[in-house]
Amino acid sequence: MSGTRVAVVSGGSRGLGRVLVERLLAEGWRVATFSRKPNGFTEATARERPEDFLWESVDLHDTPALRQFVKTVKERFGSLGLLVNNAGVLHQELFATIAPRRIDDLLAANLTAPVHLTQACVRLMMRDGGSVVNISSINAVRGYRGVGVYAAAKAGLEGFGRALARELGPVGIRVNTVTPGFFDSELTSDVTDRNREKIQHRTPLGRLGTAEEIADAVLFLASPQARFITGQSLVIDGGITC
Ligand SMILES: NC(=O)c1ccc[n+]([C@@H]2O[C@H](COP(=O)([O-])OP(=O)(O)OC[C@H]3O[C@@H](n4cnc5c(N)ncnc54)[C@H](OP(=O)(O)O)[C@@H]3O)[C@@H](O)[C@H]2O)c1
Repeated sequence: MSGTRVAVVSGGSRGLGRVLVERLLAEGWRVATFSRKPNGFTEATARERPEDFLWESVDLHDTPALRQFVKTVKERFGSLGLLVNNAGVLHQELFATIAPRRIDDLLAANLTAPVHLTQACVRLMMRDGGSVVNISSINAVRGYRGVGVYAAAKAGLEGFGRALARELGPVGIRVNTVTPGFFDSELTSDVTDRNREKIQHRTPLGRLGTAEEIADAVLFLASPQARFITGQSLVIDGGITC
């Protein structure tokens, strides 16, 4: 665990990313985040915590902008102890009909962008150590219709994390993955009532998760309590994949 309490969280404007930003700030971290658009949360936090919080508009598809964002973090905060690759994009469509451009976009946002962001961030972490937590999905470990490309990207992210853990362990950087099941957010807002009931029925704990419950796992993996854990994936899904 690094002594540096500066975190980068991608996609921190809403959903899980917002919860992570709020909780890291409450635990005394300084937090840098980006999304495409600002909202009431990012504007209010930038106003109220100007010393501790940085938000910028960055699109996951813009690799130079991602790398420039990390340069800005370095100039503003000096160092980095935690990266959470949280931002992700879900598009559900049967594989036979999905447009080639959409395939490229899904792979770029969910896999290529976190890989670039991680490289820029770990270069900053190498002096003092730190940790990376990648946010995957149970789609990476179970087959579901209509999410093949998203599943491919998330499974890629999990493999990336395991390889990096081996490479970066010797320089004091831990890399882990949190693999959530369904939780309420804008990403899952179009799940129909019928599908929601099906998910609840198939989940041993009988309900969808919350972003708070996923954040608990991320914060655990980032904490000193997890100092001997690296290269692992932690599934938080109420048991739906068990
Ligand atoms: N919700 C679930 O049930 C569920 C289940 C398994 C895994 N996950 C994973 O959990 C993570 C968080 O999901 P969530 O449900 O909290 O998502 P969400 O509510 O849709 O929030 C996504 C965040 O990412 C940002 N974002 C999206 N596209 C972006 C882009 N092209 N460039 C920059 N930022 C972008 C969004 O801001 P802008 O739109 O303004 O850019 C927002 O801040 C994702 O990796 C997702 O795949 C979610």
